[in-house]
Parts: sequence; C-alpha cells; structure tokens
Amino acid sequence: MMIVQLANEKHVQGIVDVCTRAYRITSQDILTKEYIDRRCEEFFNENRVHKEVTEQSRYWGGYFVALEDGCVIGAGGGGMTGEKTGELFVLYIEPDRRNEGIGSKILQAITEQQKDFGAKEQWVSVQKDNYLGIPFYEAKGFIYQSEMQSYESRPEDHAISLRYKREI
Ligand SMILES: CC(C)(COP(=O)(O)OP(=O)(O)OC[C@H]1O[C@@H](n2cnc3c(N)ncnc32)[C@H](O)[C@@H]1OP(=O)(O)O)[C@@H](O)C(=O)NCCC(=O)NCCS
Repeated sequence: MMIVQLANEKHVQGIVDVCTRAYRITSQDILTKEYIDRRCEEFFNENRVHKEVTEQSRYWGGYFVALEDGCVIGAGGGGMTGEKTGELFVLYIEPDRRNEGIGSKILQAITEQQKDFGAKEQWVSVQKDNYLGIPFYEAKGFIYQSEMQSYESRPEDHAISLRYKREI
C-alpha cells in the first residue's frame, strides 16, 4: 500500500536517492553533465535535505513523501512566494514507478497545504524540453506563462525554465 505523508528524518536518504535518480534521468538529454552534477550536489545532499525535513515554514512547507513498505518512492515540496501565491519547488518519482498516480497524490498534498496558507494560484518551473514533466503539469491544469534562464544557472549552462501557473 502507498501512503503520502510529510517527511521526517527517517526519509532523508530515500529522498536524496529518489530525487537524484529521477533528476539525472530526466535531465540527461537536456543539460550538460557538469550542470547536472552541480545541481545534484547542491540540492540533493543529506545535510540540505535533513534541514528541509526538520525546518518548515510558510515559505518551505517541507517534503511530502510517497512511501511503500516504508520506502520512499516519490518526493516533493513547495512553499508560498506571495500572499496568495504558492509554488511547487520540487517533485520527483522513482523512475520505474511513473504514471501510477503517485505524483498526482504528492501534488495534491502540497496543494492542500498551500490552500491552507491562503494560496489561490500555484506556480511551477519546468526545464525546457522536459517531456516527462511538462505533460504532467499540463494534465493538472497548469498553463504556460513565460520562459527564463534557470534559477542560479550560468548562461553557458543553456538551462532554460518554463514558468507555468494554475488557479487552485
Ligand atoms: C512528472 C512526474 C512527477 C509525474 O508523476 P507520476 O507519478 O509519474 O504522474 P501521475 O501518474 O500521478 O500522473 C499522471 C497524470 O499526468 C499525465 N501524464 C503524465 N505523463 C504524461 C505524458 N508523458 N504524456 C501525457 N500525459 C502524461 C497523465 O495523463 C495523468 O493525468 P490525469 O491525472 O489527468 O489522468 C514524474 O513522472 C517524474 O518524476 N518525472 C521525472 C521528473 C520530472 O520531470 N519532475 C518534474 C520536475 S519539475
């Protein structure tokens, strides 16, 4: 049986593993290896994820994890970026467990949390040409708004993010 819940310290390694695997597979044909390595080190390391499961606020609502027999098979999180604006910052599913509804359940948990914080709209950034992520967000009612250089990337990384938004 699969459940979705707010993550705690027990889930740190599982979050690191799932996010790293899913990010690498998703990005391998889009971004340079150097950039992918840098992003994995920066975001999906134990110290950072440990902080992210223990320190929560309106601006970072913590990781939600999908668990099966206690194992992390998906992880995601977001936070508020304005009075009535929420954002999904991260969402990754174990690569061989896609399209089983797990991402939908995690997104729903994050969305409920953001509605409780007063969100009326929700944003997400997706890597340009991410043909795994984009159809999912479009199926969930997100609408393309604009493109921008990816957050904290260098021009030579050629990392472009597409900004999407939906009403919630
Ligand atoms: C994107 C991702 C999080 C979605 O999670 P998931 O568990 O595979 O998705 P679900 O099974 O819950 O979602 C299925 C929904 O998306 C749609 N969908 C998913 N992939 C699709 C595709 N390639 N083409 C068309 N529709 C697609 C389904 O039709 C379904 O819509 P519905 O709920 O209206 O029926 C997951 O596939 C993933 O980790 N991808 C790689 C990493 C990534 O791109 N993350 C996003 C970074 S911002």
